Amino acid sequence: MSATSSRPPSAFPSRSGTPHLRDVVHEVMRQFKHEKESEAHQIFRQQAGHQPKGVFPETVNPEEETVPGIEHPGSTGVIYCSDRAIANGFSYVNSHEWANLGQGAPEVGPIPNAPSRPDSIPIPVDSLEYAPTTGVKALREAVANLYNHTYRQGKASQYTYENVCIVPGGRAGLSRVAAVISDVYCSYQIPDYTAYDQVLSAFKRLVPVPTALDPKDKYRLDIEQTKKDIRTQGLAVIIASNPRNPTGQMIAGKDLKELVSLSREGTTLILDEFYSWYIYPEHERDYGKSVSSAEYVENVDADSVIIIDGLTKNWRLPGWRVCWVMGPKNLITALSQSGSFLDGGANHPMQLAAIPLLEPSRVAEEKLSLQKHFKTKRDHVLKRLHDIHLDVDIPPQATFYIWLNLEKLPPPLNNGLTFFEELLKEKTIVIPGIFFDINPAHRRNLFNSPCHHFVRLSFGPPLEDLDKGLDAIERVVKAARKEGTRKFGHSYKKSLEKAPDQI
Ligand SMILES: Cc1ncc(COP(=O)(O)O)c(C=O)c1O
Repeated sequence: MSATSSRPPSAFPSRSGTPHLRDVVHEVMRQFKHEKESEAHQIFRQQAGHQPKGVFPETVNPEEETVPGIEHPGSTGVIYCSDRAIANGFSYVNSHEWANLGQGAPEVGPIPNAPSRPDSIPIPVDSLEYAPTTGVKALREAVANLYNHTYRQGKASQYTYENVCIVPGGRAGLSRVAAVISDVYCSYQIPDYTAYDQVLSAFKRLVPVPTALDPKDKYRLDIEQTKKDIRTQGLAVIIASNPRNPTGQMIAGKDLKELVSLSREGTTLILDEFYSWYIYPEHERDYGKSVSSAEYVENVDADSVIIIDGLTKNWRLPGWRVCWVMGPKNLITALSQSGSFLDGGANHPMQLAAIPLLEPSRVAEEKLSLQKHFKTKRDHVLKRLHDIHLDVDIPPQATFYIWLNLEKLPPPLNNGLTFFEELLKEKTIVIPGIFFDINPAHRRNLFNSPCHHFVRLSFGPPLEDLDKGLDAIERVVKAARKEGTRKFGHSYKKSLEKAPDQI
């Protein structure tokens, strides 16, 4: 950085009339337009797999060269953020001192009016065997039954166990599906769940085609445009999370019906419905409902709709690794094959233990308690952000995420990576928005990313943790407003080596 050459003419003159170097450096920092000038962005670039592509001469990161033939995929948002937190002193031993608003997990303990949490798992001798790669039949039946009960009452076509494949987690389900997609154009949207970019790129036959969603349309998927893209670009597969991570928006009612109708015209829809219960109605009478494309499927074996969901978010059991993919029967037999070489199937005892948790009356209780509890948390976080004058442009109707625009903050706090680094100093973790962009590490200038001025806050954790994190945000924002931003944008802990022993 050439601090002196790009000096603004009258930045903070000293008593002698010439500017202090410190003030000049700070003034330059305020004008950042390129990642090369920002310490937070340089730290991001130093990580293996994070070099921009297509920039000549290519810079070689020695960490990417250590294993012949292996190309580092770059770290996912959550891994990068935990590594940076560890460099700043976070460990699993002292994690209670931190507020982790980064992790995309719901609180797992008891919440008001919910059925009690499972606290023991039977292990019958049969469960010591491998489970089938499509899962235990009784659990597949329980999943089919739950969807028929919730979304398909009175419809002629009903799901059976043959429409359900149990998988060891949502990402395993996504990988099993991606592994059987042939060499077609597969569309996904930005911003959306970060794993799509990596999962889709790992399977080289399909061609991922990103589409940017526009904040002006509240990140709505434009169905008319999608129809055009199907015709003009030949999109064969569309993947989307609904409700959507990280924007908290959802496609429901007639829009969802219309989207599902595309599956009857030759386009396969992969709908990731992990947040289907996390919806926050305005009216009391609407509590207890959930959203799924299963409601609009006409023929479960003919409509090419692939639904992915599981115990991770709705049942608040991310550690169980019991999830499912639903769709036409011959999709399920294909997933049995990809599962046999990718993951070998979900844990057998946990599948058996999951069966009673899918009983519809129990699910109704879980859903209701979850919606009330998480709506209270959402409203609390939105209110606190409002009080800090950090109003959320597009508040979430669903999920447990807030997509927070930082543009109104003074630079350099107005970009997600710097805001994130400043919060680490305050023992709080959030996720910088760029991780929800297309292959962010390969951008030439991260400042040009449409997600650059955002962070994702999770209100998954318990209320006390949320308050701890919001207190930290308040401290940073207040300090910037009162004392100016001189102390921000620099002095970040660089490496993991400097951190205490971890994990
Ligand atoms: C939209 C979405 N799908 C799937 C998953 C991952 O599920 P799992 O942890 O079961 O792999 C997540 C987790 O953050 C998610 O946000």
